[in-house]
Amino acid sequence: MSDTHITSVLNEARVFAPQPEFRAQAYWQDLDAYRAEHERSLQDPEGFWGEVAKELSWFEPWGKVLEWNLPDAKWFVGGKTNLCFNCVDRQVESGHGDQLAILWEGEAVGPDGPEVRRLSYADLQAETSRFANALKAQGVKKGDVVTIYMGMVPELAIAVLACARIGAPHSVVFGGFSSHAIADRVDDADSKVVITCDGSWRRGKVVPLKANVDAACELTSKIETVIVVERCGNEVAMREGRDLWWRDAVQGVDAECPCEPMDAEDMLFLLYTSGSTGKPKGIVHTTGGYMVYTYLTSKYTFNLKPDTGQVYWCTADVGWITGHSYILYGILPNRVPSLMFEGAPNFPEVDRFWDICERHKVTQFYTAPTAIRAFMKWGDEAVTKHDLSSLQLLGTVGEPINPEAWMWYREVVGGSRCPIVDTWWQTETGGHMLTPLPGATPTVPGSCTLPFFGIDAAVVDESGNEVPLNRGGLLAIRKPWPSMLRGIHGDRERFVQTYFSRLEGMYFPGDGARRDAHGNFWIMGRVDDVINVAGHRLGTMEVESALVSHPQVVEAAVVGMPHEIKGTGIAAFVTLGPGVAASPELSATLQAHVGEEIGAIAKPDLIQFTDHLPKTRSGKIMRRLLRDVAAKRAITGDVTTLEDFSVLETLQKYQED
Ligand code: PRX
Repeated sequence: MSDTHITSVLNEARVFAPQPEFRAQAYWQDLDAYRAEHERSLQDPEGFWGEVAKELSWFEPWGKVLEWNLPDAKWFVGGKTNLCFNCVDRQVESGHGDQLAILWEGEAVGPDGPEVRRLSYADLQAETSRFANALKAQGVKKGDVVTIYMGMVPELAIAVLACARIGAPHSVVFGGFSSHAIADRVDDADSKVVITCDGSWRRGKVVPLKANVDAACELTSKIETVIVVERCGNEVAMREGRDLWWRDAVQGVDAECPCEPMDAEDMLFLLYTSGSTGKPKGIVHTTGGYMVYTYLTSKYTFNLKPDTGQVYWCTADVGWITGHSYILYGILPNRVPSLMFEGAPNFPEVDRFWDICERHKVTQFYTAPTAIRAFMKWGDEAVTKHDLSSLQLLGTVGEPINPEAWMWYREVVGGSRCPIVDTWWQTETGGHMLTPLPGATPTVPGSCTLPFFGIDAAVVDESGNEVPLNRGGLLAIRKPWPSMLRGIHGDRERFVQTYFSRLEGMYFPGDGARRDAHGNFWIMGRVDDVINVAGHRLGTMEVESALVSHPQVVEAAVVGMPHEIKGTGIAAFVTLGPGVAASPELSATLQAHVGEEIGAIAKPDLIQFTDHLPKTRSGKIMRRLLRDVAAKRAITGDVTTLEDFSVLETLQKYQED
């Protein structure tokens, strides 16, 4: 996040009350009512969440709503349910099987328009059952982790839900990650089955997903079965005894498969995310609490109402937590159709998203600030030439939004008619934590406003005491909530250390924040070695490890730097081995190398070769100085601990380049 962003949000004074037409049909229409209910949810979490959970289907009731033994939470103790059942079967059983569940659009636009597939709840029931049986036939049992590495095709949703159906936790690996990233995650999760596609479409080109899985199979010996969806028709190698086509796997398979009764605390999925060490961590989410929380946040944050003609669209990929919670798990139980789009926002033209909104009469639209900034650059006309009058609500997620982008989103996309929900949350939190309720909360450009029900959020100092309003501090969550992570897979110590040790008795998300005079929260960005690049989370150490794994690199230090579109870009300071000459070619080689090690999203935007990195006398790299250099601003703060002052001069010279 840039300094200009911080300065501008500090001075932000515009406040927008919910629009009267929106408010009139909203679940929550009044700020005082929100405050009273929020208070009740904190005073009586068991009463509050017990009532919400009753809106969903359970095979067996829970005994106790919450058992809290810091840092371990158990929600809906003893209850049995199934999340696929609540997404799919429940809708069929209540007579809504014919209604649209998933509205999918492919990337390519042919002479007759793009390919569209419509899956009703009944279709989803048959398809998830069939594929669940196919998984069972491959030996997958309850508790076995299934890795999913696919493009945004309907089979991705079917695969995820089929896993939930039989109680096999899924680990979805974003299709932009490399074979190394797949192998690391497969190893860590001890996963024997991978579901993939031959390829996925990206701006008319094929991303070779199956070939990446083949390469991953060379890096780990864990993978025994690979199920392949045919999507692009690109050539793939099928290894006898290991690989099989999806269509063959489901051929002649029974379309009936009862949903496995899952304990509320049985694992639903693992999702790997970056932290401040080089190794991504497998965040564990369980069934009951995650289900209840994503259901309620979807309902209230997006004001979802079945049978009112709503079409909800979240533009994220299912490979991220946003896609898990707010394309599938939170949305389907609300019985509002969820739109899934395969492609990029600017293919074939920069108006693709708005074309989709117009054709499918999208009512709720949820995207990332980085996309909004790109749209601003591509010009208003791409938006305004479309009839976007169906839109009722806009949302953002993933990174701080600069007020200028917020205002553009509101006026140009939303016609000043739609409330904007800026939702702050994380892979670990499972669902929205800080967000406006669109009919009740006055919004301010750049602020994610107020805590959701049940969330006791505060801005505190290192001792855990609340800091005064308008003072920066650490964001903290002081009480457990239903969809909180239950652990890091296989690493109890790291779980406790990362989230529950810096602030005593509280969850520490790793973000800095402040509250304004109205109590609104302003996220000031990460306070650890994690950066948020175009809404995607990366550990600086992950990128550094990738760089130093190149034979010509000796040392690397990676920091975030301001980036017009991505919000934060990646700057890498690299020292080379003896006799290795710096060159633009080497820079390109290193970028490609990081792409292979992690994925394209991790490629540094800037590589600065340097003879020395600024270090303290104890050998720690002073990233703070590098952040100043990368941002081309004056080097500030204390430099007395610097080991070699001449480094400063060299660094300052880079700024002039
Ligand atoms: O720094 C915060 C930022 O994204 C981080 C979480 O990243 P991830 O686990 O990948 O999940 C992203 C999607 C939920 C947070 O620690 N972040 C997320 N949403 C916002 C945000 N920063 C500011 N405003 C937001 N609305």
